[in-house]
Amino acid sequence: MSNDAGGTPPDNEGERRRWNDAYWTSVWPRREALTDNVTPDLLAHVGARTGDAVLDIGSGGGKVAIAVGRQVGPEGRVVGADVSEALVRLARKRAGRSRAENVRFELVDAQKDDIPGAPFSVAMSQFGVMFFDEPATAFANIARHVGEAGRLAVVCWQAMDRNPWALGHAIGAYTPPPATPPPGKSLPGPFALGDFTRTAELLSAAGWEEPDAVPYDRIVTVDRAAIFDDGQLAFNGVAAEDLPAARDAVDRHLAQFLRADGRLDVPIAYFVVTARKGRGAA
Ligand SMILES: C[S@@+](CC[C@H](N)C(=O)[O-])C[C@H]1O[C@@H](n2cnc3c(N)ncnc32)[C@H](O)[C@@H]1O
Repeated sequence: MSNDAGGTPPDNEGERRRWNDAYWTSVWPRREALTDNVTPDLLAHVGARTGDAVLDIGSGGGKVAIAVGRQVGPEGRVVGADVSEALVRLARKRAGRSRAENVRFELVDAQKDDIPGAPFSVAMSQFGVMFFDEPATAFANIARHVGEAGRLAVVCWQAMDRNPWALGHAIGAYTPPPATPPPGKSLPGPFALGDFTRTAELLSAAGWEEPDAVPYDRIVTVDRAAIFDDGQLAFNGVAAEDLPAARDAVDRHLAQFLRADGRLDVPIAYFVVTARKGRGAA
């Protein structure tokens, strides 16, 4: 997606490009082995009931939406909202295989677009709400789709220094520094909501009440492919001449998590953030 010369970039341009990149989306199903570990904690907070209408923000490959579709039963429904054409395709394929007839997936940007299927009784997300360049706008747009007495339950990573599996710890010296966001925009990324004080302010500004966060710290066992594959280096901007050194840095970094069977035991730290629909929200 290109900018007008000197104009404002389109909303979420960088993240839309990332989540529509052929390499990135082709390896994403391997990464799910890391992030799927949090699903039971998210679902416990979502507390879906028979007949609920659930919005899944940044639904990716659709596994969580399909799981919730079973919980809400045929009287309920789930809509997954995502900007990634490839992941929406994957999610629809998985829903078809699972005969999840009450679950559908929509290609939309949750920051500003209308999401078909409103009003919802609950909005949820598993690591899909950290990629907005206007997070307060996005949380207000999500609130707009949730009915009276509706709820929010989303998982996001705690700060990067609490997540030592993140490759930035190993290859930060070889990648370009993060871009400065244009005026009025925030820098999106996996750790963008790692400071709950700021997240609570964003949610309150967006019309959500009683924002709260439960922190989780776990050690999970995953294959190396859940965290790293070689294509990630160039994708993250490592220059060709630095590839061997960056590969070594990744090997040294991941060695601290290595088990006898070759898999990795990695500490992960995340929040389940909850809030309820405020009277002020539209
Ligand atoms: C880390 S993945 C999580 C996917 C899925 N929830 C899971 O747990 O496997 C983040 C997802 O958010 C989606 N996403 C990023 N920005 C978005 C936006 N503005 N609106 C909707 N989805 C977005 C991406 O396309 C991606 O599928």
